[in-house]
Amino acid sequence: MSQRVYIFDTTLRDGEQSPGCSMTVSEKLKMAAKLVDLGVDILEAGFPIASQGDFEAVEAVSKEYHWMQVAALARCTKLDIERAAEALKSARRPRIHTFMATSDIHLKYKFKKSREQVLEEVVNSVRLAREYCDDVEFSAEDASRTDADYLEQVSRAAVEAGARTINLPDTVGYSVPDEYGALIGRMVKALGDSAVVSVHCHDDLGLAVANSLAAVEAGARQIECTINGIGERAGNCSLEEIVMIFKTRPDKMPFTTGIHTEHLYSASQLLSSMITFGPQPNKAIVGENAFAHEAGIHQDGYLKEKSTYEIIDPKSVGVPAGKLVLGKHSGRHALKQRCADLGFPDLTKEELDAAYQGFCALADRVKGVRNDAIAAICREVTASRVTA
Ligand code: KIV
Ligand code: ZN
Repeated sequence: MSQRVYIFDTTLRDGEQSPGCSMTVSEKLKMAAKLVDLGVDILEAGFPIASQGDFEAVEAVSKEYHWMQVAALARCTKLDIERAAEALKSARRPRIHTFMATSDIHLKYKFKKSREQVLEEVVNSVRLAREYCDDVEFSAEDASRTDADYLEQVSRAAVEAGARTINLPDTVGYSVPDEYGALIGRMVKALGDSAVVSVHCHDDLGLAVANSLAAVEAGARQIECTINGIGERAGNCSLEEIVMIFKTRPDKMPFTTGIHTEHLYSASQLLSSMITFGPQPNKAIVGENAFAHEAGIHQDGYLKEKSTYEIIDPKSVGVPAGKLVLGKHSGRHALKQRCADLGFPDLTKEELDAAYQGFCALADRVKGVRNDAIAAICREVTASRVTA
């Protein structure tokens, strides 16, 4: 039996707060529409105390998508929690996500507070948040570097104070999968059914997805993640990667999500068009080369039988057919469609015949014919058109 894992999207909060990723309120609304179509379970729309823009974004998302579970971030302070509650006023299913660092490093250098003081503030803050809504998440920032006994004590206290979700972030991306999985397993056991255990992994060592997987295997049932893996420093766990692992390997990872994966590519593209960078070309699932077969041996195998080199059907993540390399087995219809996609929608029968001949000749030589070569053929066959 596969088990349902909740996808908590933080593209508009952790993602947006990283360099080159800031979005206006209207951009956040557009992105939120995509995330709703995608089927995320919880949409974290911002950190209302951080700026007027963040406040307005949470407010706007709560109004526009009032049926969604919308989360707003708040530190464990009265002001933050009240601001988050205010921004979430229109949401029918608001979630206040309050957080406080629990590791000794943070307590000593950032807060200059004792463990007892932090514990008390967490309890008071969760209680206050519960006065505004039933759905309260507590995050123990830097959980992976927190003394495990203390982490368990804080987590239990937060649940007793009313938190329904306990998030245990690997804030600095320091953990490794077996270690993080063991920590999460311990907390899942300690909390039982009293709360959903959530994970939030950063990618400083390139392990955010692997750590999130280990956590889910250990019993976590919420994953905090972002489109294209954007987020503080090296980013967060990539939503598209974690979701496609579950979908592609149910034999090893019997977990399901509510994500409609055919929207993944367009979500990635939309985000890239709003921030200053897109995914690197070789990024899994959504990178430009994720489904490009370039090596001759690979193209040969792929053209004979896709499963030789392709483990995911690109259509299942919404990669448009126009992104795929055409080969000698591609027919006239596929070529005609590609020509149209490339800006030649009105080829005459004669032009298409000529284009197809040129394409077949090339496909025999180079196996996969790329779009720039097809566009060149189109230009050639239409060059003699008489213009008015
Ligand atoms: O990385 C982190 O610990 C966070 C928390 C605020 C959840 O982003
Ligand atoms: Zn984070």
